[in-house]
Amino acid sequence: MQFNALQLCIIIPMENERLINPGMNSTDDRADFALRPRYLNDIIGQDIIRENLSILLTAARQRKEPLDHILFYGPPGLGKTTLAHVMANETGVNIKITSGPTIERSGDLAAILSNLQEGDILFIDEIHRLNRSVEEILYPAMEDSALDIMVGKGPSARSIRLKLPRFTVIGATTRLSMVSSPLRGRFGAIYRLNYYEVCAMEQILKNAAAKLNVACEEGGLNEIARRSRGTPRIGLRLLRRVRDFAQVRSNGLISAESARDALELLGIDPFGLDDMDRRVLLTIIEKFNGGPVGLNTIAASLSEETDTIMEVVEPYLLQLGFINRTPQGRNATRGAYDHLNIPWLKSEPPRDEPTFGQTPLF
Ligand SMILES: Nc1ncnc2c1ncn2[C@@H]1O[C@H](COP(=O)(O)OP(=O)(O)OP(=O)(O)O)[C@@H](O)[C@H]1O
Ligand SMILES: [Mg+2]
Repeated sequence: MQFNALQLCIIIPMENERLINPGMNSTDDRADFALRPRYLNDIIGQDIIRENLSILLTAARQRKEPLDHILFYGPPGLGKTTLAHVMANETGVNIKITSGPTIERSGDLAAILSNLQEGDILFIDEIHRLNRSVEEILYPAMEDSALDIMVGKGPSARSIRLKLPRFTVIGATTRLSMVSSPLRGRFGAIYRLNYYEVCAMEQILKNAAAKLNVACEEGGLNEIARRSRGTPRIGLRLLRRVRDFAQVRSNGLISAESARDALELLGIDPFGLDDMDRRVLLTIIEKFNGGPVGLNTIAASLSEETDTIMEVVEPYLLQLGFINRTPQGRNATRGAYDHLNIPWLKSEPPRDEPTFGQTPLF
């Protein structure tokens, strides 16, 4: 059955899902497909990446060559998949979509590669999860447009090289450090997506609200934008929840007041932190005296997966300056204590004066 954007948006999302989890797994997220920017000019924010991509596109178009291989990395929900589709739309080529964990054997990848046409884009999501033997098939394919396959077994086994059409790999990952360096080295362009500024988030929400026919005031969108952790996927999800609230509790208009009330009811504070973020901070502060404490220990204390804390919670807390990372583990900073209204009892040097024995910086 086919749904349009509006129909998809009124399907009730799954219960018990962390509202600000930027992972993609609810019906809301499928509705996001309909809101996805299709061309580079529709992309809001990420100005430097947009400019670089535009040059890449123009240069490839002028030379009548396929695009160079591109790797996008950064926290979930910032637009990596969206940008891969934008590149395919801009070049007017086919995009074949796969992901690291789905390609289990090298034969699976060989089959995908041998079906590509000249100029096609092969989008590999979660590319850090490709296994080594699969990666080895990818190296010559990316570098020399060649597919090396083994024929025969035992002493008579030999490798033959098949020519592939020229194509482009676009990889996406939330964990650049887990992409092996030989694979990383085969990408001609590597871009890190950053959290969005509040004004960019506001514009993204404004466009989405217009497409969804939601009545809103600027103050309402600003309130949602400020609590969206700089992540479009979260912003769009919050917009829908606030819309529900405004519809049920007031006249349907998203005003600053209704947005604030809705977000408070959802447990999202003015910094965009939810219950899980606060629990992580409280664990570091109350159970481990502010740190340092290792990520695995934090995850075990909360009965949560280390990956979720590492990919979703930690980057935003680091960005806010609420935790810092040391070789010994994570520490809660004074900002976190202040935010949670917990007295800071640790000794620290006076703020404006250098400590005795230290050389002043200026
Ligand atoms: N720059 C943008 N402008 C407008 N909307 C955006 C932008 N970037 C992302 N979005 C929206 O946010 C949603 C999430 O984006 P996307 O799925 O591309 O993120 P991702 O980085 O691939 O996440 P993941 O790591 O979980 O795969 C999309 O549905 C899209 O509608
Ligand atoms: Mg994605």
